[in-house]
Amino acid sequence: MTTLKGKDILRADQLTLDEIELIMQTAARFESVMRAGGRLTNMSGKVLATLFYEPSTRTRLSFESAMLRLGGQVISVAEARTSSSAAKGETLFDTGKMIESYADVAVIRHPAIGSAQELADGASIPVINGGDGAGQHPTQALLDLYTIRKEKGTVEGLTVTLAGDLKNGRTVHSLSALLANFGVRFYFVAPAALAMPTEITAGLRQRRVEIVETSDLAEAAAQSDVLYVTRVQRERFTDPAEYERLKGSYVVDLALVKAAKPGITLMHPLPRVDEIVKELDAYDGAAYFRQAANGVQVRMALLALVTGQA
Ligand code: CP
Repeated sequence: MTTLKGKDILRADQLTLDEIELIMQTAARFESVMRAGGRLTNMSGKVLATLFYEPSTRTRLSFESAMLRLGGQVISVAEARTSSSAAKGETLFDTGKMIESYADVAVIRHPAIGSAQELADGASIPVINGGDGAGQHPTQALLDLYTIRKEKGTVEGLTVTLAGDLKNGRTVHSLSALLANFGVRFYFVAPAALAMPTEITAGLRQRRVEIVETSDLAEAAAQSDVLYVTRVQRERFTDPAEYERLKGSYVVDLALVKAAKPGITLMHPLPRVDEIVKELDAYDGAAYFRQAANGVQVRMALLALVTGQA
């Protein structure tokens, strides 16, 4: 039987198809209980530790909301870089050794690639990666998949455009790996300086995933069922002038959507800066706020599954 009990969730490509389906089904079950006004107590007596060394609105609050909605409790270090003992030089490995005494499951966000793995190496409790620098954001990818299924009815065989900062955007690194399990065809749209890393495109092509790399967003949108837009990740730039040059490379507006494939679904992991104009919020296919809301049930499923409480 498929189980995630005791497992860390560090990368999207660690998940088997059965594990992905288990997460999707568990999230759907929790969603239907909540919609019916039911009360869930799966995590009663359990504690979640959230360690955020980088800013977050959605990931941190939806994990904390998920834990509370399952009857559990939360301990949190919000400004972990300055208010935890990391400021005194403590390693993530040692922090992991400590949190296993305080919590049953932990979520970490950190600016360094591999940070969640380092915490997990020290901790015997399950560790969930809430975003490690420009590396991975697997729980975002899972809620993105859940959203695509809700919005489109299926993910099998869809054409999906990933646009924006594909170099630094951890959400698209994880999402491309996850969607590769479902026969998705990709357009990758980015300025040359922000192209999808070649190790990711090579890995996808090795899995026989069809990818078109282009800088023409309109052409990609005309062919796509889903347009997933990302922000240029200012915090990953060492040269502010380079950020200024590249920000605003792509803006999704009413004209672009009118010329796109009819019924195209617009997604964005948020926060947005200026990638999607506000006027599109009223468009039926603008799914980005529904997408963020789906994070709660998907993260409820992850917390319950890795602690064996689903
Ligand atoms: N999508 C996402 O990770 O949002 P936050 O940075 O607000 O957590």
